Amino acid sequence: MDPIRNPYAPGAGQRPPELAGRDEQLAAFDVVLERVARGRPERSLVLTGLRGVGKTVLLNALRSAAVRKGWGTGKLEARPDQSLRRPLSSALHQAVRELGHPEPEEADHVLGVIRSFAQRDAGADAKLRERWSPGIDAPAVRGRADSGDIEIDLVELLTDVGGLAADVGKGVGVFVDEMQDLGPADVSALCAACHELSQNGLPVIVVGAGLPHLPAVLSASKSYSERLFSYQRIDRLARDAADRALVAPAAEEEAEFTPEALDTMYDATRGYPYFIQAYGRSVWDLAPRSPITADDVAVAAPEAERELAVGFFGSRYERATPAERDYLRAMADAAAMADDEDPVGSVATSDVAVVLGKKPQSLSPARDSLLKKGLIFSGERGRIAFTVPHFGRYLRSQS
Ligand SMILES: Nc1ncnc2c1ncn2[C@@H]1O[C@H](COP(=O)(O)OP(=O)(O)OP(=O)(O)O)[C@@H](O)[C@H]1O
Ligand SMILES: [Mg+2]
Repeated sequence: MDPIRNPYAPGAGQRPPELAGRDEQLAAFDVVLERVARGRPERSLVLTGLRGVGKTVLLNALRSAAVRKGWGTGKLEARPDQSLRRPLSSALHQAVRELGHPEPEEADHVLGVIRSFAQRDAGADAKLRERWSPGIDAPAVRGRADSGDIEIDLVELLTDVGGLAADVGKGVGVFVDEMQDLGPADVSALCAACHELSQNGLPVIVVGAGLPHLPAVLSASKSYSERLFSYQRIDRLARDAADRALVAPAAEEEAEFTPEALDTMYDATRGYPYFIQAYGRSVWDLAPRSPITADDVAVAAPEAERELAVGFFGSRYERATPAERDYLRAMADAAAMADDEDPVGSVATSDVAVVLGKKPQSLSPARDSLLKKGLIFSGERGRIAFTVPHFGRYLRSQS
């Protein structure tokens, strides 16, 4: 069918033509926004899930919901080994601009605090400190949010930003993607600041998204984090939502799937959003006409798998060093050999060592760097799993 009219959107963070199966989260978030704007205590949302289930896309949709309510919003993507100060300053800069406070002096004062918070990052190198600025014209407000203690600074910063939002009867939302990559000091400070803000009824919320072990990262940092955040597990789509993700965009282009085609699609994608988009894209291009049939899906499957092998699996695999690749393949083999079918596909690290014929301790560096790269995660002590769905199957098909 006409590739120009192909509606499907495989790709990291690509907005899907139909955001299927997330109504519950969107509705819950609307309640959160209303309550926070009224100074009511409310837990922030944290989305967790495997790679490609649609966390980034949902985070962006939540942000849009906040913007529609007139909130100031900003987003950042955490990176390992990167301090929170600069990306958070940019996000808050944006949020303050979006708030559109009617008194320029008030807004400038808060922007000055953001600036002083950001510039504290430069550390010992004073020249760098002078050179880097978050693009804020307002002069830095010395003595506010620049003590160097991230916990104190964050509380001061967010208190000022929250006060500005409260003035105009709105709120501020900070959206943090890949939240598991925040450094320990930043995580701890962020939790402490959220705690403080919610106690003071200030209208600021942090909405996070990250890999399945993010709740563990947060509670290791502050034991009260479980009460601070409401964790929403983002998972593959149930059958009806998966069908809607395919059918609704097709209908917009006056095309259809037969019921058998939808059965075959679900067998292939298992409801994983990235797979749905990749299969949708290939099947659309290769099907001769509407309605799309099960045979069309079968014909297009190799093309869809090729697209996934490059765009989804390959791009991750390439990030691994040779030793890490050995480790990943051994994980896949260990998972295939395990007789008890683990529902989340985790394997014992000791089994991986057996497959490789090495001592477990000698494999720690490979394992740790894979954890850091976000390719694997550990949900419980001594066990690890792929963050990428069906990664094991992909790896075994390569060798
Ligand atoms: N609810 C949904 N319905 C249909 N398609 C979706 C949905 N959510 C996400 N997608 C599609 O799935 C793909 C992956 O989405 P996204 O990048 O948000 O996943 P992610 O969970 O952030 O992955 P990663 O952990 O790799 O960052 C995109 O192509 C997107 O269009
Ligand atoms: Mg993402």
